[in-house]
Amino acid sequence: MPHTLANPLDDPAADPFEVAAQAAADIARLTGVPQHDVAVTLGSGWGRAAELVGETVATVPAIEVTGFSKPALEGHVGTLRSVRTPAGRRILVIGARTHFYEGHGVRRVVHSVRTAAATGAGTMILTNGAGGIRETWRPGQPVLISDHLNLTAASPLEGATFIDLTDLYSRRLRDLARSVDPTLDEGVYCQFRGPHYETPAEVQMAKILGGHIVGMSTALEAIAARQAGMEILGMSLITNLAAGIQSTPLSHEEVLEAGREAEPVISALLARIIEAL
Ligand code: HPA
Repeated sequence: MPHTLANPLDDPAADPFEVAAQAAADIARLTGVPQHDVAVTLGSGWGRAAELVGETVATVPAIEVTGFSKPALEGHVGTLRSVRTPAGRRILVIGARTHFYEGHGVRRVVHSVRTAAATGAGTMILTNGAGGIRETWRPGQPVLISDHLNLTAASPLEGATFIDLTDLYSRRLRDLARSVDPTLDEGVYCQFRGPHYETPAEVQMAKILGGHIVGMSTALEAIAARQAGMEILGMSLITNLAAGIQSTPLSHEEVLEAGREAEPVISALLARIIEAL
C-alpha cells in the first residue's frame, strides 16, 4: 500500500490483528515466502546482521506493507527482508521500527511484532542501541535484556487484557545466547518515551528502580510479542554510558558512531545466536 494513503492503524475501529494479518499476507506475496520461523528487529548498530544470517531471498520496502510507517530516523533502514539460513530456516528481518516518541500511537509501534507473529514466527529477537547505567560497561558492548521497566505509561494491550510478563525475556534464550558468547552480561532495560535523552537525575532514578539500560524502544514491543505468544530474546548494544554516568554530553552522532564501530562484531554474534536457535 503506498504511504500516501492513510495508515489503516490510525482508524480506531480497525482491528490491529487483522491489519497485521494483512501485512503478513503482503509479506508472503512480496517475498514469495509463505511463512517465517524467527523474526528479528534490528536497532541502531545491528543493521548488518541480516547479511550474516543467511541468504537474502527478498527485500521489501516497509512502506509497501500494510500498516507500516515511513522510517523517522537516519540510521534506521525501512526494509523487511526474508532471509534463509544455511539450515533452511526462514528469518524475517525487520529494519523498520516505529518508535513511541514519533507520536503515532502504540498500535503502530507494535505493528511489526504483530506482523511477525502473523507470518508464523514463534521467536522474536528485539535489538536496540541504548545507554548503559552499569559503570563497568563500555560503548560497543552488547548485553542481554533480562527484564524491563516500562516507563512510557502506555501499553499495547487494549481493554481488560491481562497478560503475565514473568520471564518475558526468555531465560532459555538468554542461556542459549550465553552458550554462543559466555561473556554476555545482562540487565534490566528501562524504556523512556524520549526522544530527548534522560537527565542524569532520571538515570539515577532508573538505577534506584533496578534499571541497568536506558532506551526508547523494545519494552512495548516485547509486551506485544508476549501477547502474540512468541518467545523473546532482547539485546542492547551499549552505544554510550547513560547521561551523568559518562561525563560528556550525549549526542545522536555518538550513538550512530558507536553503532557503526560495533556493527561487524555484534552482527556476527547475532547471526551465530540465530544459527543456534
Ligand atoms: N538513552 C536513551 N536512548 C538511547 C541512549 C540513551 O542513553 N543511547 C542510545 N539510545
